[in-house]
Amino acid sequence: MSYAERIALRLTQAQGRKDIRILAIESSCDETSAAVLCGRQVQSLVIASQVETHALYGGVVPEIASRAHVEAMTGAVAQALEQAKTQPDDLDAVAVTYGPGLVGALLCGVSYAKGFAYRYGLPLVPVHHIEGHISAAYIAHPELEPPFIALVVSGGHSHLVRVSDYGCHEILGRTRDDAAGEAFDKAARVLGLPYPGGPTIDKLAQQGDDRALLLPKARQDGYNYSFSGLKTALLQAVARAQKQGVQLSDADVAASFRRAVVDQLIDKAELALRDTGLKKLVLAGGVACNSLLRSRANEAAQRCGARVFLPPPVLCTDNAAMIGCAGYYRYLKGCFADMTLNAVPSVSLPKG
Ligand code: KG4
Ligand code: ZN
Repeated sequence: MSYAERIALRLTQAQGRKDIRILAIESSCDETSAAVLCGRQVQSLVIASQVETHALYGGVVPEIASRAHVEAMTGAVAQALEQAKTQPDDLDAVAVTYGPGLVGALLCGVSYAKGFAYRYGLPLVPVHHIEGHISAAYIAHPELEPPFIALVVSGGHSHLVRVSDYGCHEILGRTRDDAAGEAFDKAARVLGLPYPGGPTIDKLAQQGDDRALLLPKARQDGYNYSFSGLKTALLQAVARAQKQGVQLSDADVAASFRRAVVDQLIDKAELALRDTGLKKLVLAGGVACNSLLRSRANEAAQRCGARVFLPPPVLCTDNAAMIGCAGYYRYLKGCFADMTLNAVPSVSLPKG
């Protein structure tokens, strides 16, 4: 039987079943991750992080990331299957991140997923990385259903999205320059803190005065964000202090910077809640781990009579479980790829 005939048979056999079992693979940046899901329930999740390797260079080195994915992928998938007590033949599909991300890193996951799907005659479900981040909230909150507003903030993306149905997105706003996580990482570099800077700045900020440094507010621009001006202002303030022999406390700088980023993120998210009248706000992406952002999102939602959905940190940063959950809804819609699926480093969020 050809691959097409084998997957047609699988799909017929699975028809009407809700307990769809998916092996999910994520490799868009510096985490090699595999997971097994049954519907939107996670059976296993394995994350092989490369953070320590890249920290030596102050950021992700694409070539090193690709090589590390190749080394870690087989083991991560084997471990995910074993922890879920699942044999490849028990699976209904393979979901994989095809973009956006680092092309070499994405290719590792896409090639592995294609080989696995072909070997076991499984349908292949391509998943957009941002749709994955948004879907993390479905795992953490079994009662969550669209429509809602999603604030997706990671190292590569800052999007304010209206999610009208599963997999149906309208981008209301996005960053004009740096992503929020990128801004945290760059600010950390200014302070001589290690990569990734977001978690360190968040921790340092807890002991600092967030009004110590006056940072500019981005100009009004609808739902769009801008963070590069903040980074430049921070650089200038630190240089000025050095010149004047003034000792700026790292904690005060971190607290002031964190507050300026979070103010912007929350202002626009609150505006979107008010304008759309939607009563649910989902936080997604690595920056959604930020403690101030989490508490301020709760306060903003309260002001709007809305509820916030905050996935736990392990589901906010890159992981394959979120890809499996997005893949589940793509599977139900019949969105499959064939063996020509390729990695796409830059691709917009699917509308529906
Ligand atoms: O979603 P993610 O794991 O990878 C991308 O898709 O980019 O996000 C990583 C980003 C990094 O920039 C990191 O500094 C940031 O998330 N991050 C944080 C925190 N934890 C991770 N930023 C601010 N506060 C945190 N607690
Ligand atoms: Zn991500």
